[in-house]
Amino acid sequence: MTLKRLILSVIALAVIVFGLIVTGIWGPSGHNPAPEQQVQTTQTPPGMSRGEYVAKMSDCTACHTTEKDKPFAGGLGMPLPIGTLYSTNITPDKETGIGNYSLDDFKRVLREGVRKDGGHLYPAMPYTEYTKLSDNDIAAMYDYFMNSVQPVKQANRPNDIPALLSMRWPLAIWNWMFHEQGAYQTQQDKGAEWNRGAYLVQGSTHCGTCHTPRGVAMQTTANDETETGFLSGADLAGWHAFNISNDNANGLGDWSNDEIVQYLKTGSVAGKAQAAGPMAEAVENSFRFLTDDDLNAIAVYLRSVPAVSEGSTSRYAQGEAVAQDLQLRGLPIETTREEMPGEYLYMANCSTCHDADGSGSPDGYYPSVYHNSVVGSEKSGNLIQVVLHGVKRDTNDGEVFMPAFGQHLSDDQIATLVNFLTDTYGQGNAQVEPQDVAELRATAE
Ligand code: HEC
Ligand code: HEC
Ligand code: HEC
Repeated sequence: MTLKRLILSVIALAVIVFGLIVTGIWGPSGHNPAPEQQVQTTQTPPGMSRGEYVAKMSDCTACHTTEKDKPFAGGLGMPLPIGTLYSTNITPDKETGIGNYSLDDFKRVLREGVRKDGGHLYPAMPYTEYTKLSDNDIAAMYDYFMNSVQPVKQANRPNDIPALLSMRWPLAIWNWMFHEQGAYQTQQDKGAEWNRGAYLVQGSTHCGTCHTPRGVAMQTTANDETETGFLSGADLAGWHAFNISNDNANGLGDWSNDEIVQYLKTGSVAGKAQAAGPMAEAVENSFRFLTDDDLNAIAVYLRSVPAVSEGSTSRYAQGEAVAQDLQLRGLPIETTREEMPGEYLYMANCSTCHDADGSGSPDGYYPSVYHNSVVGSEKSGNLIQVVLHGVKRDTNDGEVFMPAFGQHLSDDQIATLVNFLTDTYGQGNAQVEPQDVAELRATAE
């Protein structure tokens, strides 16, 4: 976005807001509900304090930890259209962290996106979702950050945003337009489990941050199941967070509750999907620590997210076993390399783990490449990413690891391989060019 366009959009936003206020259509939506209407905690796993559990399910680590031995010391760069924003030190260090935050300051930053010094935060910090956390859970998390997290003295990295654009007051206008503040309110006509799931999905686990499409001002276009398009899929940092609405073909409509729980807990459901990239990180740092009851509540709530259809083809129902070794048998290697480059690349790089016919290993550790949502999707970006970067995920049962092929294979070879895979084991409509691979290579950190 050019500077001129950005300034024009800020002015346009200001004019719209002014108009709405003058005509009395819009007013600040902030209100703090009575605590007794807020969802009560069901469970906390043994050996963990409530505060640590809330920090885990909210995945504060994802953005605030860059070095494993300095948890929560900040410094992660997040690219915005106007420059790079860095996450801050949220350890209890008094000089460089949040050691001087009172409980009220902490509540304000999570509910309103306003720092102790009064500065508005960029909504890259998901306070738009954390606002739904209950008073009790915020207090428990405050106690955890102040008393159990090690203080780390590390000054915040200044943002790489041009001075004129780094003014924070337009963010107040943004909040006024797009941020509905306040803790989650229990819906009396729904059961306890549904409410618990709604609280987790809309608030702390912030599925919508990645899975809900964003509008022109980067706001998520829906915040709960009553708004159209909630969790219907969105692009983020070179990945596509798939549609997980309740649609049978394109969402989770045909997944059982147990499969949803298993996916969130382990990152893998044989014959359906595995978690790579940002979803692998969310499983590793956050979802795998949730209790089975909480995960089940999430599955129950996801059922009520209205189906958004993108057509009738299911991602994970595509393809079947096709033996590549039989196709190549008896042919000289030069012939296969030149005339059947997809088969050749698959046999040379992938078949040792995913098997010559694509069926993976019997125990499911190596998944099949058919009945696999990444290969079966019409969008090939995630498949390119998986080949470029591999898969790495710590689970409760050990590490899941697929090597990265980015160094080893050229853009041209990856494009050929991806087109071959979707042709043979997916919907067969990928038309990936080497340029597409080069672009995704460049977006990786
Ligand atoms: C998706 C990324 C992301 C996640 C997840 C996230 N944050 Fe942040 N947070 C940021 C960024 C980026 C900033 C700095 C924003 C700015 O400068 O406008 C920030 C700023 C903050 C600040 C302001 C600190 C200061 O400098 O005064 C606090 C406090 C904070 N986050 C706490 C949390 C807590 C607690 C959690 C988990 C419940 C969390 N954050 C999860 C990205 C994130
Ligand atoms: C940090 C971003 C992020 C967050 C937060 C996140 N997801 Fe995802 N999710 C993704 C991405 C990216 C993928 C695609 C992963 C892949 O292709 O391997 C994905 C994939 C999935 C899939 C597999 C879909 C398929 O057909 O392959 C499910 C199910 C899912 N997410 C559920 C959830 C739920 C439920 C939550 C909240 C509890 C959530 N996700 C939170 C980014 C995210
Ligand atoms: C050394 C073994 C190994 C090799 C070689 C290998 N993979 Fe994988 N692959 C894995 C593992 C392990 C996973 C992750 C399984 C999980 O997430 O539970 C995986 C996952 C995948 C997935 C699913 C990812 C997702 O996000 O859903 C695809 C697609 C895939 N591999 C394709 C390939 C291709 C194409 C090649 C050849 C370029 C290849 N693999 C080579 C072990 C391997």
